[in-house]
Amino acid sequence: MKSRTTIIDLQKRKRQAKKIVMVTAYDATFARIVEEAGIDVMLVGDSLGVVVQGKDDTLSVTMEEMLYHVRMVTSAVRKSLVIADMPFLSYQGTIEDAVYNAGRFLQVGAAAVKLEGSHVVLDRIGAMTEFGIPVMAHLGMTPQSVHQLGGYRVQAKSRSDVDRLIEDAKAVEAAGAFAVVLEAVGADAAKEVTEAVSIPTIGIGAGVACDGQVLVLYDLLGLFDAFVPKFVKQYAHLKTDAVKALREFKQEVEGETFPSSRETYD
Ligand code: KIV
Repeated sequence: MKSRTTIIDLQKRKRQAKKIVMVTAYDATFARIVEEAGIDVMLVGDSLGVVVQGKDDTLSVTMEEMLYHVRMVTSAVRKSLVIADMPFLSYQGTIEDAVYNAGRFLQVGAAAVKLEGSHVVLDRIGAMTEFGIPVMAHLGMTPQSVHQLGGYRVQAKSRSDVDRLIEDAKAVEAAGAFAVVLEAVGADAAKEVTEAVSIPTIGIGAGVACDGQVLVLYDLLGLFDAFVPKFVKQYAHLKTDAVKALREFKQEVEGETFPSSRETYD
């Protein structure tokens, strides 16, 4: 039986040039499906604020809500590495609070946490890793800064911005991050970052050169179609299938063909 994926395995993958595959998961049923597909890493992303809670952004997601979803995922997962996304305001206060909040995710079964930002979070990354909490960094388009960035847009377009991104990636690595998500940056910039650091880069809208790729589960399964960014590929169309199934159920109930004798007790 395959043993549980660890952060050491992910770092080894970069050295072996074997891609890392990560998707989001928010509940036990989908976590089981994701694990059955052999996915290495599950991120309980604060993207749940949009795809599960129906909000416009991730900013209102709370620690308690994240803990609720992390518990559901970790109760179902046996082999994949589970990473908990730290929600907005759970790590922007004191370093002590940030470490405490990160530790709460490990108490409910996550193996690591992810947080957004560069220089402002270096002390938090350092403190967490000192206390044995592995941290995945997140650079480029950082959704919790959507208002500061003026919307969800591609980052690091100029040479100086690319240089800064490289410096930021080196800084989070030096602070102790075991991997870094690069979101919505040009493929060339992501390649440069990937070559500049020894920790794995996991891209989302960052081209093929990254050491791994992540997508939001509801996006890749075609469950969420309110907004489909350019970087999303829908590998299934589950929303269409679900609507079709529900329409059929409605029709059969109204036409009294469901339940039939097969679904009825004598
Ligand atoms: O919240 C999330 O799902 C994420 C991924 C998109 C990387 O941060």
